[in-house]
Amino acid sequence: MKLKVFVVVAATAFIMFATSQNGFASDNNPGYNLIKTSGCLACHAVDQNKVGPSYKIIAETNKKLYGKDAIKHIEKSIENGVKGKYKNLGITAAMPPYGYLGKQKIETIAKWIMSLAK
Ligand code: HEC
Repeated sequence: MKLKVFVVVAATAFIMFATSQNGFASDNNPGYNLIKTSGCLACHAVDQNKVGPSYKIIAETNKKLYGKDAIKHIEKSIENGVKGKYKNLGITAAMPPYGYLGKQKIETIAKWIMSLAK
């Protein structure tokens, strides 16, 4: 009987731990949800470079380059696309333009990306 209780408690703790690890705090964030539903994750991950740079690298690079104007630069890149900015990381592909998402959604996404900068 005691063992059963222990197993249930341990399983619950494990599930809580696992979801807190993989789910990021971002899972319920509107910006991250837009990224998920707009196909961005085909080329991007949060903390790993894929076809495109990780969102953490993007946030930190733009913060270093433009300080508090970083968000505007990120918005512009999402709207119009960009190429060659991350070639120092060996990234040669282009970021396609996503202007059709509209200013509001692009701003929501850009804010979330910049929230990853330290
Ligand atoms: C086909 C692959 C692909 C898809 C899909 C894609 N990206 Fe990118 N993205 C890239 C690449 C490649 C770069 C790096 C471009 C460079 O080096 O200049 C990039 C760069 C970026 C940057 C950095 C721009 C900067 O100025 O620093 C942002 C922000 C970004 N992507 C956001 C997004 C968002 C948001 C979506 C979805 C709406 C998306 N990407 C979808 C490939 C992609």
